[in-house]
Amino acid sequence: SEIINQSGKQKVAQQIAAMVKDGDILGVGSGSTVYLALLAIAERIKAEKLNVLAIPTSLEISMFLSKLGIPMTSLFEHTPDWLFDGADEVDPKNSLIKGRGGAMFKEKLLIASSPLSYIIVDDTKIVDKIGTNFPIPIEVFPQALLHVEAELKKLGANSIVLRPAKGKDGPVITENNNLILDCRFDEVPDTMERDIKSITGVIESGLFIGYNLQILVATNN
Ligand code: A5P
Repeated sequence: SEIINQSGKQKVAQQIAAMVKDGDILGVGSGSTVYLALLAIAERIKAEKLNVLAIPTSLEISMFLSKLGIPMTSLFEHTPDWLFDGADEVDPKNSLIKGRGGAMFKEKLLIASSPLSYIIVDDTKIVDKIGTNFPIPIEVFPQALLHVEAELKKLGANSIVLRPAKGKDGPVITENNNLILDCRFDEVPDTMERDIKSITGVIESGLFIGYNLQILVATNN
């Protein structure tokens, strides 16, 4: 039966679940859209007795995979056959901002390791220019904070905010024990990802420029 008023996120999540094949090693990104896709994948695994192994990108997703009974593996043992992940912004050149959830280092590592990457978004994530709604999150080694801030200003950052934790005093501490700077620039040229990454003390940024990505967009109406 047709589900009426299905949200865009739900639609792309179903589309991803339909693509899973027996024996797949799946890279699993983070965020609420990924969560919806996993619910649908878990149903298929149960109904069709599929053998699937998942490589998670965050503690949140590891816990969810375990709750759903989807077996996990890691990049030590396997490389993904394909992966799916969400995004915060997508522009016409398929550049992305990710990292609202703070997991962009592992997400980028998985995308770099996977031959095929699907980015699943609803149409609220589409922008004309990257950086329109979201700042660029940058994971920083704690003692490099002042150095990185100074270098980011030289790259033209007009706003740099140390991401605060929720439910705890002080900043967000990532799964790799680092800090996150949310950073806005007037212009984001194609060289920006490389320029940010070349600052000593930067672990990774949530900026993705020039990756080979398959973008699946669902409209909310
Ligand atoms: C996690 O670090 C992010 O990159 C997410 O993939 C991104 O924020 C998308 O999240 P939603 O699917 O919850 O919108």
